[in-house]
Amino acid sequence: MSIEKITFGKTKETDEVLEYLLKRNGVTLGILNYGATIHKCLVETSKGVRDVIGGYDTVKEYEDNDGYQGALIGRVGNRICRGKFSIDGVDYTLAINNGENSLHGGLKGFDKYIWTVTENSEADCDKLIMTITSPHMDQGYPGKLKVTVTYTLNDDKSFSIGYEAESDRKTVLNLTNHSYFNLTGFEELNVLDHKLKLYCSNFTPVDHTLIPTGEIRPVKGTAFDFTEEKTVGRDIEAKDLQLEYAGGYDHNYVIDRTQEVSYRNTTLFKTAALTSPDDVLSLEVATDQPGVQVYCGNFLHDDIVFKGSKPQRRRSAICLETQHYPDTPNHPQFPSAYLDKGERFKTTTLFKFTSR
Ligand code: GLA
Repeated sequence: MSIEKITFGKTKETDEVLEYLLKRNGVTLGILNYGATIHKCLVETSKGVRDVIGGYDTVKEYEDNDGYQGALIGRVGNRICRGKFSIDGVDYTLAINNGENSLHGGLKGFDKYIWTVTENSEADCDKLIMTITSPHMDQGYPGKLKVTVTYTLNDDKSFSIGYEAESDRKTVLNLTNHSYFNLTGFEELNVLDHKLKLYCSNFTPVDHTLIPTGEIRPVKGTAFDFTEEKTVGRDIEAKDLQLEYAGGYDHNYVIDRTQEVSYRNTTLFKTAALTSPDDVLSLEVATDQPGVQVYCGNFLHDDIVFKGSKPQRRRSAICLETQHYPDTPNHPQFPSAYLDKGERFKTTTLFKFTSR
């Protein structure tokens, strides 16, 4: 029922980094003004408190590592092919930072911004309202863009991320959060025994650089089928070119949008349900976005150390990044990620825990 503010450290450019702690009914969220990053997420269970979101102990590690731990991603989450797209006949070229492609906003994405924070506690929730202004042509993107991200911690062991934005000229936008979940609290440094259900009957296959081919492919009968709950690892080593390209799951799923969830005057759709191997903790994700990138940490390096001196391990956690499909600006048949001049961008994702 309160928001506490503590000093976390300083960036290389000597900006002060603060951590805001939101606490309510057995859940504590720690959020940094650096990258609007979720630094920790403590959930009480019958087997003790578990910190279920990966991260680091220092600002320097957030600055030096490339895993986007817990970070807010923008302007455009995921990949844009060769960093090129056009709007109304005008070509744009973005900063390239992932092989030949642009990933997660470029060299200085929103994960590296210092956000301005306003706190607000209400009877049934605590809110952190975080804002930045990204200048015209930031990383190659057109339009001066004002972004507001609101983290809301509710009474029922859920938190939401509300994204709002407005641009002074037509642009493209795809905001998400890049939290790595491990519902054992990283006691087990592998996520393959977690159980996962996805409310998604299709996914978007990719080429070897992880750019969608444009196809929308049914998951039925393939390793990509999570429409019935199964462990993350059950089929991860199946012989499948898509799994080979990504070294495991790192794909955008098309959300079925058939099961509605009402949340504070918005309609969201059930997207994913993740359960710890010991069944003590579950996480349900719902969103109004069209897709979710399911990424199970195939690129996490073994030589990096997480919070609390825990070694980071390949496939030790899973990201459920609600989003527009990757490379949307180059696929007119995908749901549009254009934002018109003066248009109000608004989207919400809800994360709800059930602990036993
Ligand atoms: C996303 C991508 C992955 C990887 C991570 C960051 O989830 O889909 O391929 O680049 O970000 O390491």
